[in-house]
Amino acid sequence: MNSEAILELEGKRYSLPTVVGTENEKAVVISSLRDQTGYITLDDGYANTGSCQSRITFIDGEKGILRYRGIPIEELAEKSTFIETAYLLIYGELPTHAQLRRFSDLLTENQHLHEDMKHHFEGFPATAHPMAILSAMINASSCFYPGLMGRANKERFEVHAARLISQVRTIAAFSYRKSRGLPIIYPKPGYKYTANFLHMMFSEPYQDYELKPEVVKALDLIFLLHADHEQNCSTATVRMVASSQANLFACAAAGVCALWGPLHGGANQAVIEMLQDIHESGDDGSRFIAAAKDKNSGHRLMGFGHRVYKNYDPRARIIKAACDRLLNTLHINDPLLDIAKKLEETALQDEYFISRKLYPNVDFYSGIIMRALNIPVEMFTVIFAIGRMPGWIANFKEILDDPKSRIYRPRQIYQGPTLRHYVPIDQRG
Ligand code: CMC
Repeated sequence: MNSEAILELEGKRYSLPTVVGTENEKAVVISSLRDQTGYITLDDGYANTGSCQSRITFIDGEKGILRYRGIPIEELAEKSTFIETAYLLIYGELPTHAQLRRFSDLLTENQHLHEDMKHHFEGFPATAHPMAILSAMINASSCFYPGLMGRANKERFEVHAARLISQVRTIAAFSYRKSRGLPIIYPKPGYKYTANFLHMMFSEPYQDYELKPEVVKALDLIFLLHADHEQNCSTATVRMVASSQANLFACAAAGVCALWGPLHGGANQAVIEMLQDIHESGDDGSRFIAAAKDKNSGHRLMGFGHRVYKNYDPRARIIKAACDRLLNTLHINDPLLDIAKKLEETALQDEYFISRKLYPNVDFYSGIIMRALNIPVEMFTVIFAIGRMPGWIANFKEILDDPKSRIYRPRQIYQGPTLRHYVPIDQRG
């Protein structure tokens, strides 16, 4: 039986229910707090606020554990593929052969963009960031599929989800080709998901890109490791937008915008820019570490620290090993990898990082793999977005399937001026 929490406020005692999750995480339920007491809770940055109860992803930040639908990320990274993991996240179970085939067929059937969508790419300047194009085009894509709206269209969810996963990859590759002034390459029905993305990015109309299995595997792993991460900034945004019953494509477009920032998905681009800067300046990294420790410098050690992990991010450990493997196999000697390892070693021995429990996160080594795959740095966050799509869709589905779902509407404590009156412009001084 769950215990109750007793709260004493202004001389009165209130009883609040508690809830315990399947992994023994505990919460005090404060839904009736304002009605009972007139108080709300205030939690800057939501660090102590549970916004939902979810069955998708479990993280134990103290122990460095990450599981999708109960399965450890290490097992999925070793044995699964991005598409199988996407199915697991969205539908809750690993697929049977037949289910995986159907999912795969749906992805193939829905991979082409509406031909008219091509005109939209023309309007962006060559300097446009691909995350801006991605978000705009996902939203624009919804215009081509009338009847996408929320609950009324629940029965078409399977097709919409497959269409979004498939098309986000096509949009991403098209926006890269457009930014380089290159002709668009259409997806090939015979290729699997990740191979097809590489084909659309790097083939030429007169010559197919040579698909190396180790390259396809490395990118598939990057997608898989990014596939979900419970209530992070972009996923919470997707849920926020979904709670108003906006359509799946609108929610995903909002997720892309939230992901873009350098404190979230944009960190993978920022890490490589930081490593490049260290490399070019000939510094050994100590200048960067000193700046990151100085609160007035405005710098942080990008790819380090996490709101939830107070231990090594398990994804960073897997990516670091994959990075070593890939660079060895491809005989690439990237000086940025050496700098990254040296930075990590120095930071992990530094009292500032030790006392704040700051460890490398998923973004610290992922950029080095993407560089080895010839993915340009401005596309790094787009790769994160492609990977995160199943997680966003799974979270959208939880809201869609919940008959008790309510619109997300936080409160605030107002700290502005109290009542005052309008002053005509000629009397203001
Ligand atoms: N470099 C230097 N100091 C840091 C860093 C860092 N990367 N991260 C946190 N700190 C310090 C911070 O200044 C604060 O110090 P103090 O207690 O003296 O004020 C303390 O550590 C706690 O930091 P916080 O800002 O309160 O932590 P947060 O949970 O609000 O922020 C974070 C988490 C990921 C935004 C932050 O660690 C950060 O900015 N890291 C660099 C950007 C990055 O790598 N982001 C990717 C996150 S993982 C993938 C994803 O979610 O997209």
